[in-house]
Amino acid sequence: MKVDVILGLQWGDEGKGKIVDLFSPHYDIIARFQGGPNAGHTILFDHKKFVLHTIPSGIFHPNSENIIGNGVIIDPFVFIKEVTKLSEAGVHAIKNLLISRRAHLILPTHRLLDAVYESQKGDGKIGSTLKGIGPSYTDKYGRNGIRFGNITQLDFSDRYNALKEIHLNILRDSKTETSKYKFEGLSFQEYEENWLEAIQLMKTFRSIDAEQFINKSLDDGKTVLAEGAQGSLLDIDFGSYPFVTSSNTIAAGACAGLGVSPHRIGRIFGVFKAYCTRVGSGPFPTELYDSIGEKLRSEGNEFGATTGRPRRCGWLDLPALKYAITLNGVDSLIMMKVDVLDRFDKILVCKNYKRKNEILEVFPFELEDPELEMVYEEKKGWNSSLEGIDSFSEIPSELSDYIEYIEAEVGVPINIVSIGPDRKQTLKREAL
Ligand code: IMP
Repeated sequence: MKVDVILGLQWGDEGKGKIVDLFSPHYDIIARFQGGPNAGHTILFDHKKFVLHTIPSGIFHPNSENIIGNGVIIDPFVFIKEVTKLSEAGVHAIKNLLISRRAHLILPTHRLLDAVYESQKGDGKIGSTLKGIGPSYTDKYGRNGIRFGNITQLDFSDRYNALKEIHLNILRDSKTETSKYKFEGLSFQEYEENWLEAIQLMKTFRSIDAEQFINKSLDDGKTVLAEGAQGSLLDIDFGSYPFVTSSNTIAAGACAGLGVSPHRIGRIFGVFKAYCTRVGSGPFPTELYDSIGEKLRSEGNEFGATTGRPRRCGWLDLPALKYAITLNGVDSLIMMKVDVLDRFDKILVCKNYKRKNEILEVFPFELEDPELEMVYEEKKGWNSSLEGIDSFSEIPSELSDYIEYIEAEVGVPINIVSIGPDRKQTLKREAL
């Protein structure tokens, strides 16, 4: 069997959580392959809302195994909080959650460093979620990190204290007053105490060599879905650097983040919103600064699931979408939050980028170029509610035109359209 991959094609928050949850009954294993608690995957069903940060979105289906892969970084404090919230709602993650021994940990001092580095950036702030993502991945690649598999080893405390000391030295050198930083409302010291307690609780979770487990499961005929976090335009290599996250969010990240060969990758599902959003700083070519942007924000409830920050909103950007499709080799598209456009007379789509009157054939290296212009195409809005629609055959003709226009531009079919947050509000062109 193969590993299918599902990932975001924009700047994150495309609605991947809902789709992974929907796909989960069709897969034996759901595996997260990168990112950490900067992610916020929202799932809504039976009028209940869940936001997952580290745990794969298949956790609500008792028959699927959920794996946190080696490419993910884990903050034990955030993880245990998430587990507790789930168990209060009757979902006991411990039963069907497996964690790679090779997944790295986010230490309390990583969060401190994240906050300090970000504040030192002044106007160049990335708008990080401040969950310690950058510093933790830096230690992984700098070969200083601590992994989940280390927590049961006798020298764990020594390792922890040694790495903490390295961080504290950096902070001392930068004359940082650690006491002024708070994490989830806690002082650094309180956070650290909770973090160390969380480490003890994490020992009760099953740690595995996930790469072996996944490869063996594939050999045994099991199906695997790899769940991406963030989006392709936040990829460390191909995103709008330096306004990106610190991991490979594209399909190739699934191979390295789970330990599977590219030969074993099957279908690649690309999730995108019918418009665009971005949270944090960085270039956003189709951003709207006017009342239309406001309307998208309010109709789409565009506020961060992890940080609560208002998201920046703009029209769909086809050059960026095509770039993401190329990077990932997407063969099936899933368009989300289409209902957010229900009350628009007209909808604009960025068809091309132009510089000095010339259409650009390749996605540019520099998006923050004052000479870059966007060429828009105007589409007629359907201006009616999609509520109650439950098949493709019932959608308004203007929405059909919008879908067909995008498909023709990007050359990939849109097989699923989401018209609301609930599992039921999903139109499928093909059987899942
Ligand atoms: P970091 O990964 O938390 O350091 O954040 C780096 C950039 O990626 C910031 O602009 C964040 O707002 C953005 N980002 C990180 N994770 C997500 C996500 O899950 N959804 C949307 N944006 C994200």
